[in-house]
Amino acid sequence: MSNAEEVEKRRTFGIISHPDAGKTTLTEKLLLFGGAIQSAGAVKNSKIKKSATSDFMEIEKQRGISVATSVMAFNYSGKQINILDTPGHKDFAEDTFRTLTAVDSVILVVDVASGVEAQTERLMEVCRMRKTPVIIFVNKMDRDGKEAFDLLDELEDKLKIKVRPLAWPIGMGDRFKGVYNLFDNNLNLFQGNKTGISADVVPFENLNNPELDDIIGQEAADELREEVEMINGVYDPFDRESYLSGDVAPVFFGSAMNNFGVKELLDTFCRISPSPRGRDTDQGRIEPNDAKFSGFVFKIHANLDPKHRDRIAFLRIVSGKFERNTFYNHVRLSKKMKFPNPTSFMAQDKSIIDEAYPGDVIGLYDSGNFKIGDTLNQGESFVFKGIPSFSPEIFMELENLDPMKSKQLDKGIRQLMDEGVAQLFIQQPGSRKIIGTVGQLQFEVISYRLEHEYGAKCRFLPKNYFKACWITTENADMLERFRKAKTSNVALDREDNLVFLAETSFLLTMAEQDYPDITFHRTSEFKLEE
Ligand code: G4P
Repeated sequence: MSNAEEVEKRRTFGIISHPDAGKTTLTEKLLLFGGAIQSAGAVKNSKIKKSATSDFMEIEKQRGISVATSVMAFNYSGKQINILDTPGHKDFAEDTFRTLTAVDSVILVVDVASGVEAQTERLMEVCRMRKTPVIIFVNKMDRDGKEAFDLLDELEDKLKIKVRPLAWPIGMGDRFKGVYNLFDNNLNLFQGNKTGISADVVPFENLNNPELDDIIGQEAADELREEVEMINGVYDPFDRESYLSGDVAPVFFGSAMNNFGVKELLDTFCRISPSPRGRDTDQGRIEPNDAKFSGFVFKIHANLDPKHRDRIAFLRIVSGKFERNTFYNHVRLSKKMKFPNPTSFMAQDKSIIDEAYPGDVIGLYDSGNFKIGDTLNQGESFVFKGIPSFSPEIFMELENLDPMKSKQLDKGIRQLMDEGVAQLFIQQPGSRKIIGTVGQLQFEVISYRLEHEYGAKCRFLPKNYFKACWITTENADMLERFRKAKTSNVALDREDNLVFLAETSFLLTMAEQDYPDITFHRTSEFKLEE
């Protein structure tokens, strides 16, 4: 098969949702269709359970398990589907943001009763920023929830994207009879079938056909006719280009638990979703069909066994063909590296691969060479854009509790930061270490891992910063004045970029007004923006 055919065959996507909307259940059903697992329940293990939210070791263990399910690949309908798992737990939102840089499209799961929840809005913001095509699956139609039209309005309003239903529910909860597929014009009747993967689909071109009344009852049939007419009046016909450009999100309705509506979702996904896309670099765009291999690291997972400190770097292949035991260029380190044991992830099996193609995600064993965002390519100097650090939301000062172990502490912190567990800022002057995270849980993870993997003890002292902004300016005098005035708020990040740690949004606005020649960047990606 040629490189272009390999590319065309692949579909790499992520499933995102607010916890409990049904992401795990849907993933499992998709894997059942793909024949990648044989029974329900197999994916559940990878989920961070609600009961474990305060038990971080349990979460770390579960994160360990989830390495195996970080990428789930299977073949379906002539396509190789790569599902990238995203942690549902909000404290790992940063992991999810990074994973979204490695996908080409997204399926967003929404619970029909809860509608759009806060976390979904944030995830969607990242999709919008990147113009990622999104398909929405409204789940739990077997339960009572919001009326379909109201829900569509809510989706448009809160997710700030136009929607276009491609399936339409007939009733819900106890009265849920099935869905009418507006894309293929067929009826799929709901039978509460929990385990099987066959669906009872009836082709039904013309809804005015009186047979509809016999099948779903007159009341439901009339309602469906009326609603479908309304949909066709209100919404523009589905246009694949608007979906691919991230402007319109097609919507499906179903029940993942009952395996209902999932096949339609998957079939339509295979037909409309994008094959692997190119990515921007600091020297222009790289397309999947470019001959030379390139890829970037978007996730690093530590080995949980403290005796083996190797890690797995997850690399998304962007162009060309990756080959085992071939030298590639690690751009940041200007170092040639080859990989004897690259792994692929086919559902629960990890296996060594000889080659991989654009859209694939492979695991590279790493002894500390990789950082999140690193580019690997074939002898060139470009680096991929698009893995910015966002401002953390919680800040703490790190205090070393054992001065004899400061070297270990420094090494541990450096490595944990490479993995993207948190961000480190060194206060200037003073050299105090400020750690910023998006969730409280990371602090527990850091102190546990520092102690158990590096033998270093630490304590965290709360800091009431609200945001970190990366600052740049051409005006050296103004910068000098700013630094003098804000001694307790200026720090350096790990790459020695200047950062302003603002206590409140008001103080940030004031700083922007008082120092007009200084630019305050909301993400760390400013260097590549210029
Ligand atoms: P998540 O990964 O998004 O966090 O959600 P998950 O799939 O674990 O689903 C959350 C809960 O919702 C689960 O129940 C799951 O069984 C249920 N669920 C998923 N899809 C549907 C659906 O279509 N209809 C209904 N009624 N429920 C659904 P749980 O009680 O938390 O777990 P479990 O005991 O069922 O495993």
